[in-house]
Amino acid sequence: MELTDGDIKLRPFRLTDSARLVQLANNENIARNLRDGFPNPYTVEHAEAFIRKFKDLDPPTFFAIEYKGEYVGNIGLSKGSDVYRKSAEVGYFIGEEYWNKGIASTALNLICNYGLANLDIVRIHTGVFEHNQASRRVLEKCGFIKEGVFKNAVYKRDQFWDEVRYAKTM
Ligand SMILES: CC(C)(COP(=O)(O)OP(=O)(O)OC[C@H]1O[C@@H](n2cnc3c(N)ncnc32)[C@H](O)[C@@H]1OP(=O)(O)O)[C@@H](O)C(=O)NCCC(=O)NCCS
Repeated sequence: MELTDGDIKLRPFRLTDSARLVQLANNENIARNLRDGFPNPYTVEHAEAFIRKFKDLDPPTFFAIEYKGEYVGNIGLSKGSDVYRKSAEVGYFIGEEYWNKGIASTALNLICNYGLANLDIVRIHTGVFEHNQASRRVLEKCGFIKEGVFKNAVYKRDQFWDEVRYAKTM
């Protein structure tokens, strides 16, 4: 399954994406904005394990982002469980050389429209480290509402950060 808007396409991962995923993801400027579960350094073993885990999900919820036919980043929805099962958390990154071309904003709109229409959810949310102005702008451009600030919720690289929580509802 593929989702397309102009130059941007979301498609399932392939095992052959692993070397390129390492090139894109092995970057401190990306890792510093994500949870420690996102490896740094990011090795080919990490890439292969990630792709194996997410490439055949049914329904698909994790996608490779292509820009003009090139694989440039990842985006995915993780559905909640128990009373949170009608919500999903969104996560994404774009390779640094492709920043500020509108790629994340288009990919986020595509996955939100798809998720809200097909995954039996009414809400998509995420938390952004306070210093991540680019991601906050992406979320605002895509109609996400700032719901609150969780003081000192994030401890990353020996420092505390506030987390800014955003959501979009049906
Ligand atoms: C956040 C990220 C996904 C944005 O991807 P992108 O494709 O560059 O995003 P877009 O081009 O769609 O939009 C970026 C917006 O942020 C703005 N921006 C970029 N850097 C900024 C800064 N330092 N301060 C304020 N705004 C900034 C851009 O101008 C643009 O807004 P505009 O369209 O109004 O001009 C990318 O920077 C990234 O992968 N970062 C590391 C991982 C990450 O932070 N993931 C999200 C975790 S919540």
